[in-house]
Parts: sequence; C-alpha cells; structure tokens
Amino acid sequence: MQINKSELEAVAVKSVQYPEPGVPEIAFAGRSNVGKSSLLNLLTRRKNLARVSGSPGKTRTINFYRINDEFRIVDLPGYGYARVSKSESEKWGAMMEGYLENREGLLKVIQLVDIRHKPSAQDVQMYDYLRYFNLDGIVVATKSDKVSSNQRSKNISEIRKTLGMSKSDKIIAVSALKKSGHEALLDEINKLLESYERTEEFDV
Ligand code: GTP
Ligand code: MG
Repeated sequence: MQINKSELEAVAVKSVQYPEPGVPEIAFAGRSNVGKSSLLNLLTRRKNLARVSGSPGKTRTINFYRINDEFRIVDLPGYGYARVSKSESEKWGAMMEGYLENREGLLKVIQLVDIRHKPSAQDVQMYDYLRYFNLDGIVVATKSDKVSSNQRSKNISEIRKTLGMSKSDKIIAVSALKKSGHEALLDEINKLLESYERTEEFDV
C-alpha cells in the first residue's frame, strides 16, 4: 500500500469533536516524544503533516488524519511527560478512555516504544490496557537509527518480553530519520483494512 492522500480531518479533546464514525481507524499510542507524529509523516510521505518537536508533550489533542479517502490514522496524545500537572494527566486519562473504549471502527492501536530503552511501566500498562480491549498486537520500535543492528535485535526481544507480547504479535522497527520500516508497517495496516472490509461484507 502507498499513501497518496492525507489530510488533518479533526482535532479533538472530547467525543463531540470526533469526525463521523463508520470509517476504519488505526491509532498510534506511546510515550510523549517517542516519535508518533514523525511516524505519521513518514507513512504519509509528508514533511509537516503532523507537528514534530524537540520538546515533549507537543500533541495534546486527539488528531484524526484522513488517509487515501479510505481510513483514518489517529495520533493520540503522548503519556509520561514529566512536567504535566495531576489535573492535566487526569484529563489525558479521561480523553484516552473516552476514545479507546467506545470508538466505532477503531481496528487497532499501534503502540510505539523507543528501541533504545526497555519499555517503561507506563508502556506496559498501556499495552495491557490495549490487550484488555483487544486492540493490541502491533508494536513499533521507533528511532531504530539510534542503535546498531546487533543491538536492535537484542532490544527487540527485550521489548517483546517486557510487554508480554505473544508470538503472533508483530514488532516492527522503524526510523523516521533513515526512512525505514514504514513499508512493513503499511503492509500490516493493509491487512487490518482488508479484514475489516471482509467483516463489513458479512454484516450486510
Ligand atoms: P508528542 O507529540 O510529544 O507526544 O511526541 P511524538 O511521539 O509525536 O514525537 P515526535 O514525532 O514529535 O518526535 C519527537 C522527537 O524525536 C523529535 O525531535 C524527532 O525529530 C525525534 N525522532 C522521531 N523519530 C525519530 C527517528 O526515527 N530517529 C531519530 N533519530 N529521531 C526521531
Ligand atoms: Mg506528536
């Protein structure tokens, strides 16, 4: 699959601001600064579709991107940003729950983790949460340019183990800097969309 068309469709902090459901959605979750927005730009081959920044906590809203007039990628606000207040992190929690627990057409949440580090307690918690809602199964290890290929495979097994991923769960190393790994991820996204189309046919 190739993404030829991408546009920001909605920016939301509450459900009334979400775009109409009924379009399949794939969301990105992960720690602040892990590279969610950079990954979106890599997949869509756009430099500045999503705002990338050196200062963590950039994406504080749920951003819906319409892709190829066919599906959406949803950039979720990052967690684990140290300098947020308690009320702010509660707001974050409510916003995430509101989206993840009720969203019609949400096929999968792709969890991003930094390839250099062992997943944090919050990463593990997030992945458990996704598993509970059957939204788990695809993990992206970001910033793969920052480690050697030898270290890469070691870290990937460490990530698998720490998140308690099953054998059939996929982990894909990507680098927004080197522009690598996106094809494998697009293949997985394509598979998800195809299986969604098949279930839709049965529903008619
Ligand atoms: P929030 O919006 O704060 O949640 O962050 P985010 O997850 O969207 O991260 P973002 O894409 O803004 O990237 C954060 C920082 O990491 C930026 O300085 C990026 O340039 C850098 N970065 C992202 N991906 C890569 C990568 O693959 N390789 C390298 N070397 N740096 C990356
Ligand atoms: Mg972002």
